[in-house]
Amino acid sequence: MVSMPSSLVESRRGLGCLQGVPLVSPLSHRGYSSSSHLAEVTLTQERYPVQRLPFAVVSEDDLAVFQRILPGRVVTNPEELVAVNVDWLRAFQGCSQVLLKPRTTEEVAQILRYCHDRNLAVTPQGGNTGMVGGSVPIFDEIVLSTALMNQVVSFHSLSGVLVCQAGCILEDLGRYLEDQGFIMPLDLGAKGSCHIGGNVATNAGGLRFLRYGSLHGSVLGLEAVLADGTVLNCLTSLRKDNTGYDLKQLFIGSEGTLGIITAVSIMCAPKPKAVNVAFLGCPGFSEVLETFRSCKSMLGEILSAFEFMDAECMRLVGQHLRLPCPVQESPFYVLVETSGSSAEHDSAKLTSFLEHVLDSSLVTDGSMATDLRKMQALWALRERITEALSREGYTYKYDISLPVERLYDIVMELRARLGSSAKAVVGYGHLGDGNLHLNVVAETFSTRILGALEPYVYEWTAGQRGSISAEHGLGFRKRDVIGYSKSPAAVELMRGLKTMMDPKGILNPYKMLPSRA
Ligand code: FAD
Ligand code: MLT
Ligand code: ZN
Repeated sequence: MVSMPSSLVESRRGLGCLQGVPLVSPLSHRGYSSSSHLAEVTLTQERYPVQRLPFAVVSEDDLAVFQRILPGRVVTNPEELVAVNVDWLRAFQGCSQVLLKPRTTEEVAQILRYCHDRNLAVTPQGGNTGMVGGSVPIFDEIVLSTALMNQVVSFHSLSGVLVCQAGCILEDLGRYLEDQGFIMPLDLGAKGSCHIGGNVATNAGGLRFLRYGSLHGSVLGLEAVLADGTVLNCLTSLRKDNTGYDLKQLFIGSEGTLGIITAVSIMCAPKPKAVNVAFLGCPGFSEVLETFRSCKSMLGEILSAFEFMDAECMRLVGQHLRLPCPVQESPFYVLVETSGSSAEHDSAKLTSFLEHVLDSSLVTDGSMATDLRKMQALWALRERITEALSREGYTYKYDISLPVERLYDIVMELRARLGSSAKAVVGYGHLGDGNLHLNVVAETFSTRILGALEPYVYEWTAGQRGSISAEHGLGFRKRDVIGYSKSPAAVELMRGLKTMMDPKGILNPYKMLPSRA
């Protein structure tokens, strides 16, 4: 039997929390690592006004039961628990004292059945790369990790349908498919760490959204375990199936609040035969927009990504990651990717597009790549901005959908509003999808800066009829601002669904749905 840390049974508050522990790089991921800026992380319950709900506290008897269900896979060692209690951005810290690592759906079902009976709260966790504090406990919720649920179940090379367990790492799936001539329909900078279950649970967007669309389209089926341990098998691989409500859609983007996704069936795309990446410098944001217009009309069906970043992002990527800028310094940079089936045809189209944007001064300088290594180097400039920012300091992250022509206005407004209180105010993102990543970096977290940012950013976004969370979800960080993007009736219906599917509220409490006023 696993020995019980005495602090667990002592009290409900302060449960022996690892407050202010110096985090010795617990968050280093296989792909990208979190900040080298190892500031201490404050307990979420101390930084934010949140009350622990009356869930049971894990007892020695509970640990004995978990140990029987998952022999050798119940972690209570405080050192190992540090990493699962702190999020990637090092903005939130819980004090869970139990990490469970199931391998099978049946094990997940047994755990949830038991937790439901005992009224124990559970936080599902994949790669813990989420940006909104959804993946870590707020208090002492049990962390259920999908890390060992990492098996591919099947791949059908005619339909392109992949069925796999939820804990498969996105990059591993990409490698597996590459051998068979296919690619995943999504890609993100966190691919080396995030799990496909986490991707589906957050409805991740990412770098291939422009071409392959939302996971609401490419996920064909999934299996989830409900709060009471019921296994819901919707793991179909059919493209068309209009038999009743499409229940899988409820779980896509539900951020661990409705069930634990244990397996997914996802439609993958044939690997494009020809890929090109162009990295371009633009003299202003209006030129970025005109370049996008030209891209759509001149590259048409072969355009597969259109990303942008400002000069401040490039400065930080250069400073912290030592990635050299491949083009002449510019106020804005654009990354254009084409994916098609004919190298000759695609390169002819790209060449005439490049001639046009250079001749019309929309672009001042550019660098092109067809060789894999060089394409990866160009992509790294864009993908690794998140990492560079977190090395610079504490990052206030906003992930908003806006009419594309207004995308950069808020960045400039915030620079003026914050003045020298911020180290950096940057804008980058998935311009082709109308998705801005607006980030403000300061030395440390400060309620004064937060007060200058919120609700200002949310009100501004709602004023443009935008979304206050384009792709990262709401998690803990944004649950109370859902009203800027959803009507009261919609929020009430969401609450009703949550109550019906998880009447005791044990699944990822304090996340996604707003706290009761
Ligand atoms: P986690 O962070 O572990 O969890 C995220 C949420 O999902 C939590 O609420 C958790 O409880 C829940 N969850 C996890 N697994 C399950 C499961 N099996 N069942 C039910 N609920 C579950 N996001 C984008 O959308 N686009 C991007 O381009 C992008 N780029 C990123 C780049 C970097 C460098 C980083 C660090 C993050 C990026 N993200 C991006 C955010 C993040 O990677 C995604 O949200 C990702 O989908 C989270 O996957 P994960 O496995 O890490 O989930
Ligand atoms: C990205 O597109 O780089 C991610 O969504 C992460 C971020 O917003 O920093
Ligand atoms: Zn993004």
